[in-house]
Amino acid sequence: MKFFIDTANLDQIKDAQDMGILDGVTTNPSLMAKEGITGHDNIMKHYVDICNIVEGDVSAEVISTDVDGMIREGEALAELHDQIVIKLPMIKDGVKACKHFSSKGIKTNVTLVFSAGQALLAAKAGATYVSPFIGRLDDISTDGLNLISEIRHIYDNYGFDTQILAASVRHTMHVIDCAKIGADVMTGPLSSIEGLLKHPLTDMGLAKFLADYKKGN
Ligand code: G3P
Repeated sequence: MKFFIDTANLDQIKDAQDMGILDGVTTNPSLMAKEGITGHDNIMKHYVDICNIVEGDVSAEVISTDVDGMIREGEALAELHDQIVIKLPMIKDGVKACKHFSSKGIKTNVTLVFSAGQALLAAKAGATYVSPFIGRLDDISTDGLNLISEIRHIYDNYGFDTQILAASVRHTMHVIDCAKIGADVMTGPLSSIEGLLKHPLTDMGLAKFLADYKKGN
């Protein structure tokens, strides 16, 4: 299972990278704005800064909603760095743009996916990644994890190569549940990854080992 971090915060990206477990980064316009990164040139520079920290794929989202604009923007993003993956919204023009890029061997991430049907379309268009938003489904009393199971089932039926990138992961149990279901990738905040470290018996056991070591010295 690949671990992506869902942030534009360089310190958090470095932190996850330093643990040696990071496989990539996802961003979106909201995450950029949250870090105060605004304006086209600053945003483009920030993508390059992120690529220079991590070794894996970095999703950069287009803001056009028409296919020509998406292709124009996507090409400019892909030029920035070879780690860039073009993130496209799940709308009809996004599917067309996805097909365009996948035919050229350029990586894509189809985002804002909330149904199995949308995920099927993304796979048909050759998306590298599909991003079902599990937390936002949970927010409206719909089972986000069930969507991951449905997509896994459908993709396995037909051997689609599109990787299921569980997005809008909010906490550590989402990570564990996505791993059980077989999501290919999860993207979440640093806290969702760090939560995997925690167990009181680990802390208690370590404290005892250290105390016992001191007794003998
Ligand atoms: O990866 C998608 C993500 O950024 C959305 O997360 O928490 O805003 O639903 P959230």
